[in-house]
Amino acid sequence: MARLDTDLVTWRRSLHEIPEPGFAEVKTSAYVREVLEGFGLRVKTYAKTGLVGEIVGKRGSGPVIALRADMDGLPLQEASGESFSSRHPGMMHACGHDIHMAVLLGTARALLAQADFPGRIRLVFQPSEEGPESGARALIEEGALTGVDGIIGLHVWSHEPAGTVAMRAGAMMASADTFEIEVEGRGGHGSEPHTARDAILIASQIVVNLQQIVSRRLTPLEPCVVSVGRVEAGAASNIIAESARMSGTVRTFSAVAQETVEREMIRIATATAAMHGARADVRYHRGVPAVINDGPVIDAWRAALRGTVATSEPLPAMASEDYSLYLNQVPGAFVFLGGRPEGEVFPHHSPHFRVSEDCLPVGVETMVRGARTLLAHPDVLERAR
Ligand code: NI
Repeated sequence: MARLDTDLVTWRRSLHEIPEPGFAEVKTSAYVREVLEGFGLRVKTYAKTGLVGEIVGKRGSGPVIALRADMDGLPLQEASGESFSSRHPGMMHACGHDIHMAVLLGTARALLAQADFPGRIRLVFQPSEEGPESGARALIEEGALTGVDGIIGLHVWSHEPAGTVAMRAGAMMASADTFEIEVEGRGGHGSEPHTARDAILIASQIVVNLQQIVSRRLTPLEPCVVSVGRVEAGAASNIIAESARMSGTVRTFSAVAQETVEREMIRIATATAAMHGARADVRYHRGVPAVINDGPVIDAWRAALRGTVATSEPLPAMASEDYSLYLNQVPGAFVFLGGRPEGEVFPHHSPHFRVSEDCLPVGVETMVRGARTLLAHPDVLERAR
């Protein structure tokens, strides 16, 4: 075990130094391939930089269980102060995907060393989780999940204590939609507002009114976020703006909430603009769906960790994950691996993001036990769907 622990840190730090954007994880993919081939595994490339390999159990036929790790970094200049910081200017593993890859490499090695199970393990290294194009969608379209009976995966979480795993049945992570609203008013002189249709005033009212969807149009028992992240308008202090644009994100867990937000957003934006004799156009894009864990899989996985890895039951996260696309295809679950570092905790996607490497062996234990319990109890997967 001591050697595995050292290797986990080596793999993680080596990958941390070479973060790359989605579908361009060229060095990352080569590194992962070399390690897997060093284990004696054959690996195939999917979706440009993704990798898929299989471990065949020695106890004959059985289910095929996929284990997933994502591979991409983020366009950030690293400021974590870690000795193994990014060597790629303007790119950083600020979400912990380097941890996920190291954990999956360690899991592969542990399962290869004790392949006394029925069925097969499919290792899925997925490019481009952060988007804009989803790597999960690309892998599914290229058939990387064909023949798979169940899937498990994890995400390191800097807010949860290192050495623990947070898991829950049902809603785990939210869907992520985006929207753009364009306001068309009438420009004019700053001293004569009555002759114009002030697009900035109208856009401001739309921003405020949109906040009433969550507070007054949805049941308080339905978690939902509507955030305007960008507003753009105006040219000079003495000109009344003719047009304004804004964009934002919507997070929901249910189809009812998603449909309500879309419908009310269009109604509120167009009505607010109409009130001023102006026009608003709304473009609403449905993004990745919510991550909904299968109860029987979570129950079996939690039972398999009992006495070895401490588990907790978190609230659902309003962040999103394209892992949900896999769960729309096959039964499975997705859990959070606690990775809270010593000292100040920074959120994911921060240039100061750090995690505790104590989570690495715990992640391996979690994945190995999750995989083995599903291989041994295929009835769990049948009950999940
Ligand atoms: Ni992530």
